[in-house]
Amino acid sequence: MLTIAVSKGRIYEDALPLLAEAGIIPVDDPKTCRKLILSTTRKDVQLVIIRATDVPTFVEYGAADLGIAGKDVLIEHGAESLYEPLDLNIACCRLMTAAHKDAPELKGRIRVATKYVKIAQSYFASKGIQAEIIKLYGSMELAPLVGLADCIVDLVDTGNTLKANDLEPRELIMNISSRLVVNKAAMKMKHEAISILLTQFEKTLANR
Ligand code: ATP
Ligand code: PRP
Repeated sequence: MLTIAVSKGRIYEDALPLLAEAGIIPVDDPKTCRKLILSTTRKDVQLVIIRATDVPTFVEYGAADLGIAGKDVLIEHGAESLYEPLDLNIACCRLMTAAHKDAPELKGRIRVATKYVKIAQSYFASKGIQAEIIKLYGSMELAPLVGLADCIVDLVDTGNTLKANDLEPRELIMNISSRLVVNKAAMKMKHEAISILLTQFEKTLANR
């Protein structure tokens, strides 16, 4: 049995066609069903539905053989203990700094609100900017509006969320897409099954 960890929401929706090409179609829909382990049309493959930020943990500990996670989550988690064989090119966005549209250029000692504490720390350190990082778990865009922070580090896709909150994107930190990650022990123990699956995904991606 191969277990694949996927988060509900955009990664799940974007991963479905890719999984389907490999014959993996979940029997239940996580939007309407409370099950956390989903059987699929392939008897040898099941999905576990977890929070996006928990995917690296499940795969690292071997609770899932494979997982699909954003590069943002993988870098923040520190995913050296995982194999990352494929860029699935789904859930694409940018990790950026953003500030109020009327705010001056950021310099001196600044306060930054983000859920990407490690990435933000190393980004500002690399620029020689002294940054106090304030960890938030969501709605980062609010922080500059209420005086909690001078800027944020968050994901940007269409830019609509920033615009709706009078913020503007400032600097690109990195481009983000979702990656397939594999548990290192599983890669050895279940090598054949995982290799076949990787080849199937690679073929689908090459045809896109
Ligand atoms: P958690 O549930 O663990 O807090 P989350 O709410 O951030 O995570 P999602 O919003 O589903 O989970 O995001 C999952 C991944 O999708 C992110 O890690 C990122 O790689 C990507 N992503 C996030 N926001 C966007 C976006 N607006 N456009 C495209 N991709 C995005
Ligand atoms: C993400 C991100 C931004 C928004 C950016 O939030 O944290 O708020 O998407 O997308 P945009 O540039 O297209 O507006 P998400 O939709 O995942 O909400 P959440 O952080 O509350 O889960």
